[in-house]
Amino acid sequence: MIITLDGPAGAGKSSTARALASRLGWCYMDTGAMYRAVALMALEQGIDLAAAERLVELAESLCIAFEGGGVCVNGRDVSMEIRTERITQATRPVADAPPVRDAMKRIQRRMAVGIDLVTEGRDQGSVVFPQAELKVFLTASPEERARRRHAEELSRGRAVALTDVLSSQAQRDDGDRARPVGTLRPADDAVIIETDGLNRDEVVERLLALVAALQGRKESTP
Ligand code: DC
Repeated sequence: MIITLDGPAGAGKSSTARALASRLGWCYMDTGAMYRAVALMALEQGIDLAAAERLVELAESLCIAFEGGGVCVNGRDVSMEIRTERITQATRPVADAPPVRDAMKRIQRRMAVGIDLVTEGRDQGSVVFPQAELKVFLTASPEERARRRHAEELSRGRAVALTDVLSSQAQRDDGDRARPVGTLRPADDAVIIETDGLNRDEVVERLLALVAALQGRKESTP
């Protein structure tokens, strides 16, 4: 079974998807981390971020795995490196290139074969797994999302101003919505959850209830 969790930056997708996968005992895929990993490796290997076909070759050659709550590329834990502002910026042209998105779609579908999976990103329900049994779109007001991201940055020891977080978030939202391929939008049959005023555990409980209802329906279908 596949559950997709899409939504804008800062909607709480990662922590929710991680907690949900852990509660269900399923695998977890962070597709933003995959785009970031390609950007990191491209910079390391001196690949031009505008050379889409070279980025496709690179993406196809990488072994990306989610292990112990982190992400490994070719066996190396890059969880921290991919979160820097430099990589956030470098990821944009990578994620904007249609051939790269196409390759990532193939890779993500390959990784999902034969497993129960919670996958999160921007296009998981709308493009990559349109047949997923449960598609969720998590969202929250811009102020709430920026406040959460700000608290996260502070907890990582990075002193940033809330106004800076809000403006860089607005920039990313615009980019995610304007992208010609893989545009941020809920799948037509997605369940939309507005998370203002809800904590992570409350969101996870709602999702678990949806999964239980689906599983019950599956079992009672002859
Ligand atoms: O969720 P994140 O901030 O780690 O995502 C990193 C970048 O990748 C961001 O620019 C959005 C983009 N992205 C995407 O285009 N499609 C996805 N499925 C996941 C992320």
